[in-house]
Amino acid sequence: MSAREPEAGMVSASFNPVEDERENALRPKRLSEFLGQTSIKANLSVFIEAALKRGEALDHVFLMGPPGLGKTTLAGILSHELGVDFKVTSAPALEKPKDLAGILTTLAPKSIFFIDEIHRLKPAIEEMLYMAMEDGELDFIIGQGPAARTLRIPLPPFTLVGATTRAGMVGSPLVSRFGINVRLGFYEKADTMAILRRSAGILGTTVDDDAADRLADASRGTPRVANRLLRRMRDFAQVGGSETISAKVVENGLARLEVDHYGLERHDRDVLAAIIEKFGGGPVGAETLAVSTSESIETLEDYLEPFLIQSGFIMRTPRGRVATPLAYEHLGYRKNHADDGFQF
Ligand SMILES: Nc1ncnc2c1ncn2[C@@H]1O[C@H](COP(=O)(O)OP(=O)(O)OP(=O)(O)O)[C@@H](O)[C@H]1O
Ligand SMILES: [Mg+2]
Repeated sequence: MSAREPEAGMVSASFNPVEDERENALRPKRLSEFLGQTSIKANLSVFIEAALKRGEALDHVFLMGPPGLGKTTLAGILSHELGVDFKVTSAPALEKPKDLAGILTTLAPKSIFFIDEIHRLKPAIEEMLYMAMEDGELDFIIGQGPAARTLRIPLPPFTLVGATTRAGMVGSPLVSRFGINVRLGFYEKADTMAILRRSAGILGTTVDDDAADRLADASRGTPRVANRLLRRMRDFAQVGGSETISAKVVENGLARLEVDHYGLERHDRDVLAAIIEKFGGGPVGAETLAVSTSESIETLEDYLEPFLIQSGFIMRTPRGRVATPLAYEHLGYRKNHADDGFQF
């Protein structure tokens, strides 16, 4: 996710790197604590049990889905459930072949090796990985020019877990080497409510039923957003002298954070307003839209758009993004039949 700072004076519920640390306290460690995503869990538990019975490393796992839906969490859960070591890196950190070789050759047998942002692997590293995944070996080139020679190094058995928010940017040679593919989708409301309750319990706070209902609506079907909103509501409750997180606390709190009942924040509404006002409702290309709203293209495509598309505010067409009637309605624009344009 981009390193954009929230604007001064505004507490963003979605972009706050410091809060990512606090996330760990709420991160489920076992599959049974991972709420929602029922069929994914059911399948994974079969694959885990089978690997344990055979005493083998789990097959390589590819995790796809928008930010905050539980990819890193699931990778950790796999290592817990299998009772194996967990080694974490991210593709941009693997700069040279020796970085990858250094990790792979020192893994404890059957470890989970988690590579985050796997769409950002350098081509040379990605090619090394093909062989490591398929043949359990590495070809390592030592020296340069005529003196260069290839060393073939056998590797301990391991499970590669690759995660990405951009499945479309991962080439098929890599994708096809993963035996298990998991595509995480946005959470159902009931599951988001269950996550809010679990997190409230861990944080030592209580959420009233109607408050949980309201918070779940505003959480964009995303556990990370739910947890962040919950922590902010806890702050508002505590400072406002409320014993529990009540519907009133949530109502006022969300208004102060400028989060509306669809879970849209100011940044989302800015994107919708830009499509409508600057580009006549679209279609507009992602890059043009990113520039005109001062968002990075990554933030726009990875974080903002998936939810705006899923909830029907934007359509993606071959010629670009188009604002839907719901976007016009939500932002309070009305259609002007005379010139077929839209007015505020
Ligand atoms: N199924 C779940 N049940 C309970 N909590 C969850 C679940 N999925 C995610 N969470 C919570 O949401 C937070 C975000 O999840 P996680 O960090 O795994 O997302 P991610 O998919 O790796 O995001 P990113 O793409 O930004 O790395 C976690 O700290 C965890 O507390
Ligand atoms: Mg992650």
